[in-house]
Amino acid sequence: MSRIFSGVQPSGNLHLGNYLGAIRNFVGLQDDYECIYCAVNMHAITVWQDPEALRNNTREVAAAYLAAGVDPKRSIIFAQSTVAAHAELAWIFNCVARLGWLNRMTQFKEKAGKNRENASVGLYAYPNLMAADIMVYKATHVPVGEDQKQHLELTRDIAQKFNNDYGTETFPLVEPLIFGAATRVMSLRDGSKKMSKSDPSDYSRITFTDDRDSIAKKLRKARTDADPLPETEEGLKDRPEAANLVGIYAALADLSKQEVLSEFAGAPFSTFKPALTDLAVEKFGPIGEEMKKLMADPAHVDAILKEGAERAAALAAPVLAEVKEVVGFIHP
Ligand code: TYM
Repeated sequence: MSRIFSGVQPSGNLHLGNYLGAIRNFVGLQDDYECIYCAVNMHAITVWQDPEALRNNTREVAAAYLAAGVDPKRSIIFAQSTVAAHAELAWIFNCVARLGWLNRMTQFKEKAGKNRENASVGLYAYPNLMAADIMVYKATHVPVGEDQKQHLELTRDIAQKFNNDYGTETFPLVEPLIFGAATRVMSLRDGSKKMSKSDPSDYSRITFTDDRDSIAKKLRKARTDADPLPETEEGLKDRPEAANLVGIYAALADLSKQEVLSEFAGAPFSTFKPALTDLAVEKFGPIGEEMKKLMADPAHVDAILKEGAERAAALAAPVLAEVKEVVGFIHP
């Protein structure tokens, strides 16, 4: 059976990259798969989170899923910390994964920065918890942006080592689903950095809460080069900022980059940016509006999260029981 799992960290500043790279793709998958979508608040606390903000941001991730079109009747929406099986399996995976594997994780290196000694142990073990999120449901497919690819490869390594060590076929080997024209949206200020929740500059990203004015202002200030748009994708090579804006346009308009270039070939950014602003306001604006409406009724969001947690826990329980049996934990 095929099952989808994915998660988004409730660490604030949900942005267009999260939407185009992941959340938007969650919606269509509901037609073909059983889908489980999580606000991964245990991952969020691997770096400091203000407790009140964390609570609010957890609801906000759920509201973003709903606003984008995830249907809570068909799909499960819940907060990671409310299903204890994630943490239990993560511990077992801490004992399966090897230090050498985690040492290769580029996201840890980026997030820990120069001061590695001061990073939390949780930040280091982060990918093991992510593997547990997925494997506790025996999920087979995971829709994510490109930056999560390495973590999913590690998930496969952990599953395979577990199966080998114990001589079982407990876990499936998960497949990443990375699709769309914007699998890696870059910062509006620097085409060599990905758009991220933690960038100190708010001008680097378009967020779910931005209104028309701020979307327009951010795109107006977005860094570009001085040349007009090229005729072919080949012409975007070595023009990361131009490539990024064309990719965003393509994703929002459901076109290929080549189709966008065919329309705008030769146009200066002074023409392209206002067109992109209109498109972003038309396609992304209503989702932010809907998210804000949902946030005005936190009890409604909480009820969805509660029901989702119950359904998720019921799916996780037999998997965790099977794993405990395999590992040799006793039943008291
Ligand atoms: P997070 O919260 O950083 O990002 C959530 C999703 O958004 C995608 N994404 C992007 N896509 C395109 N361009 C960007 N600039 C961009 N920035 C982020 C991410 O790839 C992700 O799909 N580790 C995960 C959360 C997680 C998870 C999981 C995901 C925890 N457990 C299990 C899948 C399955 C993360 O930090 O995502």
